[in-house]
Amino acid sequence: VTPVVSATHPGRLVIVSNREPYTIQTHGNEVRIERMPGGLVSALDPVLRLRDGLWICWEDASKKVVEVDDVASDEDNIDWEKIQLPYDIQPVPLTQEEINHYYYGYANTRLWPLFHYFISQCNFFDERDWPSYVTANQKFADTVVNCTDAEDWIWVQDYHLLLVPELVRKQRQNHRISLFLHIPFPALEVFKILPKRDVILRGMLGSDLIGFHIPDYGTYFLDAVERLLPSEEVKVEREHQRIYYQGRVIQVGSFPISIDTKKIETLVSNPSLQKRAQKLRDNYPVKYIGVSVDRLDYTKGILENLEALQLFFEKYPEYIQKFAFIQIASPTRTAVPAYQRMREEVEQTVGRINGLLSRDNWVPIHYFYRRFSLEDVLMYLMIADVAMITPLRDGMNLVAKEYCAAKVDLSGVLVLSELTGAAYELKEALMINPFYIEEMADSLHQALNLSPGVRQQKMQSLRQTVGQYDIHHWVQSFMDAFTDAINHR
Ligand code: G6P
Repeated sequence: VTPVVSATHPGRLVIVSNREPYTIQTHGNEVRIERMPGGLVSALDPVLRLRDGLWICWEDASKKVVEVDDVASDEDNIDWEKIQLPYDIQPVPLTQEEINHYYYGYANTRLWPLFHYFISQCNFFDERDWPSYVTANQKFADTVVNCTDAEDWIWVQDYHLLLVPELVRKQRQNHRISLFLHIPFPALEVFKILPKRDVILRGMLGSDLIGFHIPDYGTYFLDAVERLLPSEEVKVEREHQRIYYQGRVIQVGSFPISIDTKKIETLVSNPSLQKRAQKLRDNYPVKYIGVSVDRLDYTKGILENLEALQLFFEKYPEYIQKFAFIQIASPTRTAVPAYQRMREEVEQTVGRINGLLSRDNWVPIHYFYRRFSLEDVLMYLMIADVAMITPLRDGMNLVAKEYCAAKVDLSGVLVLSELTGAAYELKEALMINPFYIEEMADSLHQALNLSPGVRQQKMQSLRQTVGQYDIHHWVQSFMDAFTDAINHR
């Protein structure tokens, strides 16, 4: 990993995110420190290890110590002093009320659905959500102010913390502050719907640099700033993607997040994982395998993909008993009713399709509802002839990139929703519109019938993209732009 901030600009990198990078689990009096899954942590963890950084994140009182395998923890006998995390982590204690209304409420039943164009899933009417969002953001901002100085590089993450940049700026005019949004920024007509939209925009404008995955999201943000804030207060300069506001310059840019490609290539090249993958493949006595790996979220297009699978078998019955699809769905935000409903619908649909189509010992859809380790996910990606990545909307989608990284032998075809950020880069995928079920069914058919030459050529070019633009490139390019923004302010 190259240094992310030049030597002439010392100072710690301070990550501020809702999610914690590690959990501490106890098993009797044994303590396990587990790194959280997900792109952000795997991207920034190696950087913080190298740079003596700080990570500010929530502390959910109910999760502080998780007992593993139901073996009661023997906390009195644990020497907490000896527990060493790889860098400083500063938790921000949140009350249960805040978790309910800031995290489950405002962040996940307003911002998340609205920014993904799911207006009907938004609940704008719980008056406790907004005050909790403000209070929680203020707590994060106060922690930043207390733990940092003007030499530090503060990097706020995602939609949970959109007010933090301004709340820090109010107390520390000269701090270096940046923000990255990991979800889409919606088009003006949709963003406009959000009550308090001006407060959210001003919150974000506390930053020196605001990053999005792809240029379109940045354009929509500039549209919103230009159209929704008073023109005497703010000037948008499109050519250089800059905003002039309160005597400061705010730079906007696009930085598509990626994966640790080398790490995945190393893992999938490991003979013991390959052996396990082969054994797994032998469990499925079919000619072809398809896979999808998602958090069980209504944005992921899981139902649409299942409908497309049914249509595929109806239209191309020769694949009955020859093709099986594996849907891995991991539990997420299970306290939000929309997620509970989605789980029910997905499970009913899987049951309906399997009930209709299963023969002898063949089942068309193999469905798993639980968390898988990275190695286990990789095994499924390794054995899949086709990956169906079908979100109805997704800021990026890293599984699409992981699939390419895992296909070192150039086998496999990626079918990808054009409504993901990943579609902006992974141009060699077979693109589908996830609202067009027949197109998805036909694309799956096309994927299984590509000539080996075309398939390999596509995969090679996809792999080149994920090899070149990996997670280290993401961090480096963001930090370069951050350094530039500070130099020019
Ligand atoms: C998305 C968000 C992340 C979030 C992740 C998992 O990728 O952009 O900020 O951490 O989903 O969701 P959760 O609610 O479990 O943190």
